[in-house]
Amino acid sequence: MPSTLQPVLDRIAAEIETLPGRGSPADYIPALACADPRRFGMAVAELDGTVYGVGDWRHPFSSQSITKVFTLALDLSLEGDELWEHVGREPSGNPFNSLVQLEYENGIPRNPFINAGALVVTDRLQTLTGDASGALLAFLRAESGNDRLTFDEKVAASETAHGDRNAALAHFMASYGNIGNPVPALLDQYFRQCSVEASCADLALAAGFLARHGIRADGSTLLTRSRAKQVNAVMLTCGTYDAAGDFAHRVGLPGKSGVGGGIIAVVPGRCTVCVWSPGLDQRGNSVAGVAALDRFTTLTGLSVF
Ligand code: DON
Repeated sequence: MPSTLQPVLDRIAAEIETLPGRGSPADYIPALACADPRRFGMAVAELDGTVYGVGDWRHPFSSQSITKVFTLALDLSLEGDELWEHVGREPSGNPFNSLVQLEYENGIPRNPFINAGALVVTDRLQTLTGDASGALLAFLRAESGNDRLTFDEKVAASETAHGDRNAALAHFMASYGNIGNPVPALLDQYFRQCSVEASCADLALAAGFLARHGIRADGSTLLTRSRAKQVNAVMLTCGTYDAAGDFAHRVGLPGKSGVGGGIIAVVPGRCTVCVWSPGLDQRGNSVAGVAALDRFTTLTGLSVF
């Protein structure tokens, strides 16, 4: 690995400038549709909290499904393996908001990163904490050291107004007894969770516990080494939905994307990376983000393989 990662990030940003297609911002959430696909930021956080960045790396964006990693980790830290009775850990091979598998798999979602699985995790975290999105925000603030992190109420309201598919998923799972809270209260928590505005620097730092084998920024333990490994493994196999195989092939790291255009990736024992560019491909992953992570692992040789 180079002695400093800054030249690597500068080189990647210059290469991304010339990338021909950037995809399109998510348009199913009107509040996200106006994002500029030319924007690009990337940050790397080392284990000790040293952060390198390039481009819009301090610009807050909508975290969206990246938050699913943090709610999963918080839930596992509280209830442990009981969670896996209610959500699986197999790739779905389907789009993130798909309903098709739920009926013939008895209301148990394939994994915690498709929307159905994330709704189950948030539901259980809500039961355990009384305020799932509040617990998430407190965690992100503590790990990033940024007390200004907050929800974007406009994005949350926009999702609520266009949330029929998530509502359908939640009601359907409730019919199997796999949701414990009233669905409207759960959706409110889930949409607030998705709306957290954070930068590449914030999210790279917040994910640091996954590179430190479960240890938080203050040295305390969030997850055992074994559970941190499990979260990273589920990110690798399920974190980019029906593109997880292609992502593993190109990038070779556990990663988790969001439709705001962010992706976090973990190099266990070394560093965390967060990249942001709002233009998405057909599967909901940032085009420039995946390209930048592909170049990062190629240039540095950092990969789990
Ligand atoms: O549930 C939704 O539709 C969004 N709030 C989150 C989706 C998301 O980020 C999926 N990611 N690629």
